[in-house]
Amino acid sequence: MFSFFSKPDTRKVLVSGIKPTGRPHVGNYFGAMKQNIAFSNSGDYRSFVFIADYHALTTVKNKEELSKQTVEMVAGYIACGLDINKAILFKQSDVPEHTELCWIFNNIVTVPYLMRAHAYKDHEAKGKEVNAGLFDYPVLMAADILMYGADIVPVGADQKQHVEYARDIAGFYNRAFIKDNREYFKMPKELIVERVATIPGIDGKKMSKSYGNHIELFCPEEELKKTVMSIVTDSSSPEEKKNPDENNIYNIHKHFLSTEEDLLLRAKFENGGYSYKQAKEDLLETIFKWRKGKIDIYMRLVKNPNKIYKILNKGGRIAKTEAQKRMKEVRKQVGLDL
Ligand code: TYM
Repeated sequence: MFSFFSKPDTRKVLVSGIKPTGRPHVGNYFGAMKQNIAFSNSGDYRSFVFIADYHALTTVKNKEELSKQTVEMVAGYIACGLDINKAILFKQSDVPEHTELCWIFNNIVTVPYLMRAHAYKDHEAKGKEVNAGLFDYPVLMAADILMYGADIVPVGADQKQHVEYARDIAGFYNRAFIKDNREYFKMPKELIVERVATIPGIDGKKMSKSYGNHIELFCPEEELKKTVMSIVTDSSSPEEKKNPDENNIYNIHKHFLSTEEDLLLRAKFENGGYSYKQAKEDLLETIFKWRKGKIDIYMRLVKNPNKIYKILNKGGRIAKTEAQKRMKEVRKQVGLDL
């Protein structure tokens, strides 16, 4: 708690968001959540972790779904170990200043520049309708990141371009509105851990809720079993030796393992006599073991959303205070504050 006598907080700043478009999955966890939790819990960073519900609106058009999934994401983060006393955990829409900053940024980016964004191009290529929110997605994300002066943004590889956009937009803004060449908005850096940059899904493509190839961390047991047993494999017989690096089951399983366990698993694939059925059952067991204890925390929180609302309220108030300070300066710089 800040008091008159307390020193200013000089720690580096971490900012990371997750969209409440479903329950957290293995890709979210290893690609981003695990790093966010470790960095936040270390106490070495001023950590802003938020549920990107404004961003989710680009695809979710059902209020019950959006609020349920928001609760599930928060519960997932806490169940996975995020210490809520070490991170400012909040809901993006509780700090509408993000959209205000986004609007200001909208006026310094061009349409052709936004047309180069991967997410936009993918949608276009698939002939999907692109709403204006989706088109503007990277600008809102830049506002999320720059609002709090992020030094690091732990994310999976799919978000790399978005952090590059945030850096660009920081530069556009500084050049447009800051007279003395000062770097007002700091350049954020993506933090991508190579080994977990792109976790594959059950079909070997990048794991994603939108591809429906994801393994949820906290789904009911039967559902988890069904998903794991449906991991796509080739037609090798149980006796055949298999290359673990080309195997979907191994490429998911390895992330849950210590170095020693990983070596043992690799050997099973390489030596032959390890059926895909057995490999899937082993993965399932590993996931059950991993989530033991965590799932109880998750279920308790999901059943008691009042606790989650309180946590979000507290985090939202702290984030809002920061955002208001930022916007006071920004409004002055652009000439909105007379
Ligand atoms: P979202 O909700 O799609 O995913 C949340 C985080 O999970 C990572 N991730 C993965 N990492 C590795 N392999 C995968 N298969 C995989 N799938 C998902 C994502 O890279 C992400 O880090 N635009 C963001 C949300 C956001 C945000 C921000 C992030 C909004 N504002 C500001 C950082 C900073 C998104 O859609 O994440």
